[in-house]
Amino acid sequence: MTACDLAIRGGTIVTAADRFVADIGIRDGVIVEISRAVTGAPQEIDATGLLVLPGGIDAHVHLDQPTSDGTKMADDFASGTRSAVAGGNTTVMPFVMQIKGTSLRTCLEEYHSKAEGNCFTDVSFHLVVSDPTPQVLGQELPALVRDGYTSFKVFMTYDDLVLNDHELLSVFDVARREQALVMVHAEGNDAIKYMTTKLEAEGKTAPYYHAEAHAQIAEREATHRAISHAQLTDVPVVIVHVSGRDPMEQIQWARGRGMKVFAETCPQYIALTKDDLKGLNMDFEGAKYVCSPPPRDADSQRAIWQGLRDGTFDIFSSDHCPFYFEAPDDVGKNNVKARTSFKWVPNGIPGVETRLPILFSEGVSKGRISAERFVALTSSNPAKLYGLYPAKGAIAIGADADITLWDDQRRVTLSQDILHHGSDYTPYEGLEVTGWPVRTILRGQTVMLDGEIAQQAPQGRHLKRAKSSLGYP
Ligand code: URP
Ligand code: ZN
Ligand code: ZN
Repeated sequence: MTACDLAIRGGTIVTAADRFVADIGIRDGVIVEISRAVTGAPQEIDATGLLVLPGGIDAHVHLDQPTSDGTKMADDFASGTRSAVAGGNTTVMPFVMQIKGTSLRTCLEEYHSKAEGNCFTDVSFHLVVSDPTPQVLGQELPALVRDGYTSFKVFMTYDDLVLNDHELLSVFDVARREQALVMVHAEGNDAIKYMTTKLEAEGKTAPYYHAEAHAQIAEREATHRAISHAQLTDVPVVIVHVSGRDPMEQIQWARGRGMKVFAETCPQYIALTKDDLKGLNMDFEGAKYVCSPPPRDADSQRAIWQGLRDGTFDIFSSDHCPFYFEAPDDVGKNNVKARTSFKWVPNGIPGVETRLPILFSEGVSKGRISAERFVALTSSNPAKLYGLYPAKGAIAIGADADITLWDDQRRVTLSQDILHHGSDYTPYEGLEVTGWPVRTILRGQTVMLDGEIAQQAPQGRHLKRAKSSLGYP
């Protein structure tokens, strides 16, 4: 047996495929032994009575992202990844937003310098293509894919980000050639703008009307259009943050025709509904729930659960996109504007720390999904989809020792007081969950213990990625 420097003993290991009681032996941050009894390790962690899970991989987060109107995000890389480890995650995948007129490489370097030395989790970037110039399509993207940035997101909405159909097809074409994965924000910009104008003309400006402007019909239409473009260019795509029944039906239709369409959903689509945007009495409280696509209704929640069970959804991410509710002085201006119309409320809610507890509690503890499926959706599948498997997302010999110890009996009431994110609120205030991460281990080092950050200095690394093993097997 290889000598171990750390043993995790007596826990119930849960993988995407099975569960069993065993010890784990770790050396130099890598799993080197899984056996009935690991002996001789100078350091031991007693995991008796706990679940031993591969560390959470949150494949969709936004950190320290500049916004078009200057609104400041509430998390930088330090606070966002601190919050992530507190929530049982060991890897997060933030976006590098291309600023129009700027090269992708320049934007990427800026994010790297913000992240360097500040991350408590490992980090790997997706790119956002907002300006698909011939230079970006012909040179930058192919070179970046070869450098290990193997996924990029495109937007079908937001005036400053939206790509037209020709541009979408051109980006899809590069993805096929380079064997990269395109992630699509599928909401139809014109339909949303039409609805926004109409609602404002009727004096309907409260945050709640964000949910009406971002109608599910607009999401369904864009999902179908993205799928059609993917079929035309013969490329796998990921439809991100799918909110309800209508876009799901489009994804199922495409899969039925043998297309490689992957799908992601998020906590807001199982734990919130559009009624939350009403706030107390159609007041500004509703701004705490504004995200795009917005939460839908009970019927869509049922559809999402079905999709989490039956494999329509491959991954479950947070879409953590943290803003302030009571804005500090330097962002106050934008907050005042947001009170005049829903269209100025920054889109996005915090959730990197609450993603795993919400899915575990609402899914596993309530008997809707198995613990194995939970692991698949939150760790193993994201690793496979985005080219990190099997170093990440697995409890196996040779994998990084990224491990979360999980107390499946622990009851916690979610509240702003116990969270580590930069936002000044949580949309899940008061939600009771059963199941909680009690220890997060990154490459063999304990980085969170009982809610306290245990790392002296951030140890997170940037991860280069291979091509998607699901998209391009
Ligand atoms: O409202 C959201 N989801 N904000 C984050 C940006 C995005 O589209 O993912
Ligand atoms: Zn999006
Ligand atoms: Zn997002």
